[in-house]
Amino acid sequence: MNMQDKKRCAAIVLAAGKGKRMGTAVAKQYMELAGKPLIYYALKAFQDSQIMDTIVLVAGEGEVSYVQDEIVGKYDFSKVHAVVEGGAERYDSVWQGLKALREDPETAYVFIHDGARPFVDEAILTRGYKTVEQFAACVAGMPSKDTVKLVDEDAFAVNTPERKYVWTVQTPQIFEKNLITEAYSRLMQEEHTQVTDDAMAVELMMKTPVKLFEGSYENIKITTPEDLKIAEAFLR
Ligand code: CTP
Ligand code: MG
Repeated sequence: MNMQDKKRCAAIVLAAGKGKRMGTAVAKQYMELAGKPLIYYALKAFQDSQIMDTIVLVAGEGEVSYVQDEIVGKYDFSKVHAVVEGGAERYDSVWQGLKALREDPETAYVFIHDGARPFVDEAILTRGYKTVEQFAACVAGMPSKDTVKLVDEDAFAVNTPERKYVWTVQTPQIFEKNLITEAYSRLMQEEHTQVTDDAMAVELMMKTPVKLFEGSYENIKITTPEDLKIAEAFLR
């Protein structure tokens, strides 16, 4: 990639969830994975990325100063320019991150990333940068290995989408800054309980099509205890 023409990029790294499905006392983003807190790995990938210029870290309520000291300070994540408090739902947390970027008019592209995905890497970020340059809105994903069924309320199969058209999506989800800011500002004015990722905000609120690009099968989200075992195996 030609770094001379590279546009300014910001990451919003989300770590304001409660980790209910993990079921541990310590929120999953602070749990240790090979001696480091889970959130360390995603931050490290963005910190070391040639593409990334600045990082906004979104932490849980009352966790900002802990995160400043024990994560950002301790591991010297110098690209983290703000640690802000998130909200009740993921989209509330994203919105807080986007608001923190308002004072950064130079930023062209925003990479929104789940802090619970430790295996994002430079190859994914590079593919993402190239894709957002071309399409303005894109998300990492992979073709589904499993057949997917749409079911009714009673879990009877209703429909089976053709597998070549089924991808599972990951993060980073990457957008032109003005596009994602406008999508979220519209979203925040409406009922929007179904919105589970950033692409949906753009799909619902804007006309721009969202392109999928190749993430990786290792770019998993740590959600339940068995995911920690898989992550440890990847790190070995
Ligand atoms: N997240 C966030 N703010 C929220 C909810 C989620 O910043 N209100 C973040 C999480 O910290 C995580 C990412 O969004 O990095 C993906 O969410 P998920 O895996 O669902 O994490 P949790 O919401 O923490 O877990 P659970 O749904 O099991 O409670
Ligand atoms: Mg959640």
